[in-house]
Amino acid sequence: MAHAQDQILTPPAGNTIVPQKEREGIDLEINGRAFRHTGDSQMPLLWYLRDVLRLTGTKYSGEHGEGGHDLVLVDGKLASSSQLPMVELAGKAVTTVEGLAAADGKLHPLQQAFVDEDAIGCGYCTPGWLMASLDLLNRHPQPSDNDIDQMPNLCRCGCQTRVRRAIKRAATGGHA
Ligand code: FES
Repeated sequence: MAHAQDQILTPPAGNTIVPQKEREGIDLEINGRAFRHTGDSQMPLLWYLRDVLRLTGTKYSGEHGEGGHDLVLVDGKLASSSQLPMVELAGKAVTTVEGLAAADGKLHPLQQAFVDEDAIGCGYCTPGWLMASLDLLNRHPQPSDNDIDQMPNLCRCGCQTRVRRAIKRAATGGHA
């Protein structure tokens, strides 16, 4: 006589269900969490972030990323998320604007400096500015006006002067 456990594990005659192996995909890390993308390998990172993960801080910035609204860090380097297909991100670590604040909600010093200098108009360009500013301060801890003016970001609200002050405030530890 079969045990109860055997009865559960033995498929009935004619069963056509075939166990599937684990879905293959592209493994990457985003803001410190592991993800596996199992869709189109050519999907740009921008749309994976926005449409799949609902991380909508990173913005569309034109077909070629002009304007810098789509910027993220990939393994610590500034990158245009609209120009990066998912296939190129296997094993990489991505940081988006959502990854800047601490787990308890405390703003990153750059975010705080943007608030303190009122460097945010409509806000569309702000995530790109923040990511590019982080990259700039990593490379130039005390950036000159020229360093800041070389950044790829555009702002239609005319916040450039206040952004410049915010970056310098962050560079001096939050002091204006
Ligand atoms: S704050 Fe509106 S585009 Fe920059």
